[in-house]
Amino acid sequence: MRILGIESTAHTFGAGVYDGEKDALLSNVKAFYKAPPGEGMIPRVVAEHHGEHGARIVKQAMEEAGKKLEAMGASRNAGSLDFPSLDAVAYSCGPGLGPCLQTGLVAASFIGQKYGLPLVPVNHCHAHIEVGRWQCKFNDPLVLYVSGGNTQIITGTERKMKGSVSYGPPFSVLGETLDIGVGNLFDSFAREMKIPFAHGSVVAQKAMLGKNYHPLPYTIKGMNFTFSGLLTSAGKMIGHADDNDLCYSLMETAFAELAEGTERALMLTGKKEVLVCGGVAQNTVLMDKIKTMAALHGATGGTCENQYNADNGAMIALTGAMMLAQGKKMDAKDAWIDQKYRIDMVK
Ligand code: FE2
Repeated sequence: MRILGIESTAHTFGAGVYDGEKDALLSNVKAFYKAPPGEGMIPRVVAEHHGEHGARIVKQAMEEAGKKLEAMGASRNAGSLDFPSLDAVAYSCGPGLGPCLQTGLVAASFIGQKYGLPLVPVNHCHAHIEVGRWQCKFNDPLVLYVSGGNTQIITGTERKMKGSVSYGPPFSVLGETLDIGVGNLFDSFAREMKIPFAHGSVVAQKAMLGKNYHPLPYTIKGMNFTFSGLLTSAGKMIGHADDNDLCYSLMETAFAELAEGTERALMLTGKKEVLVCGGVAQNTVLMDKIKTMAALHGATGGTCENQYNADNGAMIALTGAMMLAQGKKMDAKDAWIDQKYRIDMVK
């Protein structure tokens, strides 16, 4: 089974190929939209970016997959390197920005109809979990999903039947942000600081240079968080405190909230694995906190490679393959998207 995955929920248009026989991700190619200095993402403009780069990204993902297959000993004569050798096309169907989701839908539908392939609609959050589980070799982890638009503590369902074990929906959201995602918190703060490339990764770099902690609002109730008060307070301190110290204080406060909520969920569920996934999982300070906390409770904390934590098509292909194996597929003409497709809506 070989699947092409297409990702287009937000700033990234990505394509990747997964080969089920080899259990390998053969390619992972992406184009990232960078907003002009001081601006956030305007969905229509981001969708135009995806429309401009989408065909090139898909072509490159297929070519790279072909080269990888050849390096693994597959023969090009077997026709294995063309679109017809695919078994299905998976695409991100939500949650995300409507116009951006539409570009992935159009790309997947076009390829599906042209080559007679079924489509597999994949929940974006589900894909983050599956690629993390796959790389960390986790079975049934407690999940902390942290990205620009999402911050959730999630559990899935493990089923053991006649010697085989499967994992998947229904997923439960034990806790989540009640306002903005933690990645959005950092991106918004970077814009308030007038950083030219206003992105959380730049805030993270500055935070590494910070030395003095300034107390900021710390808002957690049970396993739910809010971050907008933190953003407002930190924003008011710009110009009155050292920039690096402010970034350090902001991140420490937000990450401590995440660690506290995840610890509460870990004690509630008794899980032995803690998976952190999504774009913010690339932050090593957060990972250190979660791994340390997990170890205190006899659990293992982990995350996947950065290329799979950032939005990407490979994770969509991998998850699509798992779903296809369960018979979850549809005709290209029936393809759909849902901007508010929560992880706990996945069937
Ligand atoms: Fe994501």
